[in-house]
Amino acid sequence: MTERSIAAYDVSQRVKTYDADMELMHPNRSKMVQIALEVLPFPKAAALQAIELGIGTGYFTERFLNNFPNSRVLGIDGAQAMIELAKARLTSLAARVEFVIGDFRNLRELAPGAGTIDIVFSAYALHHLSRPDKKTVLRRVVELLVPGGWFVNADLIVAGSPELESHLQEIRVTGIVERAAGSAKFWSEKCLRALARIPRAGERRTKMTFAIKAAVSDPRARTFAFTAQKTMYGGKHIARGDIIFVFASENEGGPGLVASGVVTSAKAIARKRGVARQTPRVSITIKRSAIVKRPFGRSELKRFCDWNDGRPETELNFKFYRQATNKLAGISNEAAAFLRGFF
Ligand SMILES: C[S@@+](CC[C@H](N)C(=O)[O-])C[C@H]1O[C@@H](n2cnc3c(N)ncnc32)[C@H](O)[C@@H]1O
Repeated sequence: MTERSIAAYDVSQRVKTYDADMELMHPNRSKMVQIALEVLPFPKAAALQAIELGIGTGYFTERFLNNFPNSRVLGIDGAQAMIELAKARLTSLAARVEFVIGDFRNLRELAPGAGTIDIVFSAYALHHLSRPDKKTVLRRVVELLVPGGWFVNADLIVAGSPELESHLQEIRVTGIVERAAGSAKFWSEKCLRALARIPRAGERRTKMTFAIKAAVSDPRARTFAFTAQKTMYGGKHIARGDIIFVFASENEGGPGLVASGVVTSAKAIARKRGVARQTPRVSITIKRSAIVKRPFGRSELKRFCDWNDGRPETELNFKFYRQATNKLAGISNEAAAFLRGFF
């Protein structure tokens, strides 16, 4: 597979349209590289030693070298034809690049000693590897990195589980919303924090608090039952014993926050067969523990729309009132503490 992947790129006639083809096939290529550069925590002036795996035509390396003008790159690729295009693109920047023609599965032989590299980066290249080869290459990368070094891979990926896929989609949508709201960065602190919370396979979630916005016929009822509610932001993880805040949706004639309570039952609704993307739904019952003491809901929250200000009101507005849809969502500890102040 990999030998063929390299050979496919080692034909000058074929790869001369590579970058033009990439523009058409991956219109977000530039943003991907920008995000990858934004997450790196190094000062611009740092003299970083970097490696690009599959440097290709030098697209990522060019942006890296411009971003870190005192840094150097070891650019590895199996296809000489691609490296020739990289040299043509990089012109004078090429003085800060050492080109190595070779198979990056043999990284140990191609790269300098362990613990000497600040950053290894790659784009659209590692997907050419089989799963075992990916693991081997990643182990080599970890060996090469200095303590605190970074590995950044900008590639097209398929998540290994539906939970991870839906978590990644939430982060993606959050990023889009933040950019639409005028954030200069493609990748905010909030997205990074959310990424850091990705549960590993088999890992149990940490304790969460939830809130639901839905139609409530009797805001002073002792118990509430909600059937097949849409969940977002981790809402699908709700379980018996969890704390939940109840908003009676203003769109359905309710006054907003009405009660807090404890979940007495939670049941996931089975996914429909043959439908690829579905919002997870749950049915829950709640035993009320407190009734709200002062009004709080859409009117109080609507002015909190600077999506990056980190305020609990903004989180609640973003999660529950940005769209009219009813939903059940996980909320942060800060938002939970804030809501407790209304009881
Ligand atoms: C799709 S291109 C991506 C090039 C560039 N990183 C970019 O973002 O446009 C994949 C590159 O990885 C190289 N490649 C694939 N497998 C490789 C391997 N095992 N060792 C070295 N290079 C490899 C190919 O020769 C090709 O240049």
